[in-house]
Amino acid sequence: MKPFVRVNCAMSADGKLAGEERKQIRISSEEDIKRVKELRRSYNAILVGVGTVIADDPHLTIKNADYDENPIRIILDPTGRIPDSARVLDGKAPTIIVTNESCTKDWAGVESVRCGEDRIDLTRLMDILSKEYNVESLIVEGGGETIASFFRERLVDEYSVFVGGLIIGGRTAPTPSDGNGWVAEGGVKLRLFSAEVLGNGALLTFLPEY
Ligand SMILES: NC(=O)c1ccc[n+]([C@@H]2O[C@H](COP(=O)([O-])OP(=O)(O)OC[C@H]3O[C@@H](n4cnc5c(N)ncnc54)[C@H](OP(=O)(O)O)[C@@H]3O)[C@@H](O)[C@H]2O)c1
Repeated sequence: MKPFVRVNCAMSADGKLAGEERKQIRISSEEDIKRVKELRRSYNAILVGVGTVIADDPHLTIKNADYDENPIRIILDPTGRIPDSARVLDGKAPTIIVTNESCTKDWAGVESVRCGEDRIDLTRLMDILSKEYNVESLIVEGGGETIASFFRERLVDEYSVFVGGLIIGGRTAPTPSDGNGWVAEGGVKLRLFSAEVLGNGALLTFLPEY
């Protein structure tokens, strides 16, 4: 069975994930940061695109957790662009790098999964994660291109976005469903499931209606 996929991200009140030039800006309130920490504990895996690894160099771990207590870190990196110094390669959590089938790169201490001829075939990837890695639940934490590709394949089961009290501005600043080449025809309809004030912002949770 396909893993349950939840997209979780934070955007400014003008709908940006970060600043121009993809510069990381703190958007989440303390309350939202605490919520995300708890959320990670209840999912089997966390997935991001290589753009987020290059821009933010995240750990994608639970603080003070042992190796096996962490969710599996999954990075979509079709052509193997992850820098060797990236924190996701620090061996502190089970980690999978997903490349396309023509990429020959391997990383020490990390599983490589090859999936898709050019782009990554996300539907097939969900099948591999479920059958070979027992992943039942997955948080997609960004960035915008990665979130868009999950919506494009209609793989998102739940979308939660924290809207923080700041304006970032900028024509090129990333947004939660970003990148070239895909515009949802007529839009992907979402049903608002809940809205909750969390410090100086609001957490909105939507359920896609495909
Ligand atoms: N506020 C938040 O919650 C939050 C969370 C995460 C990130 N961010 C921000 O988001 C920005 C990064 O976003 P982004 O859109 O540039 O990067 P991204 O989504 O992290 O990564 C995009 C890259 O991942 C690969 N990729 C994604 N989906 C793919 C697919 N289906 N098939 C093949 N490859 C796929 C591609 O790599 P190739 O280019 O190699 O083909 C693509 O260029 C940063 O500024 C970061 O700070 C914000």
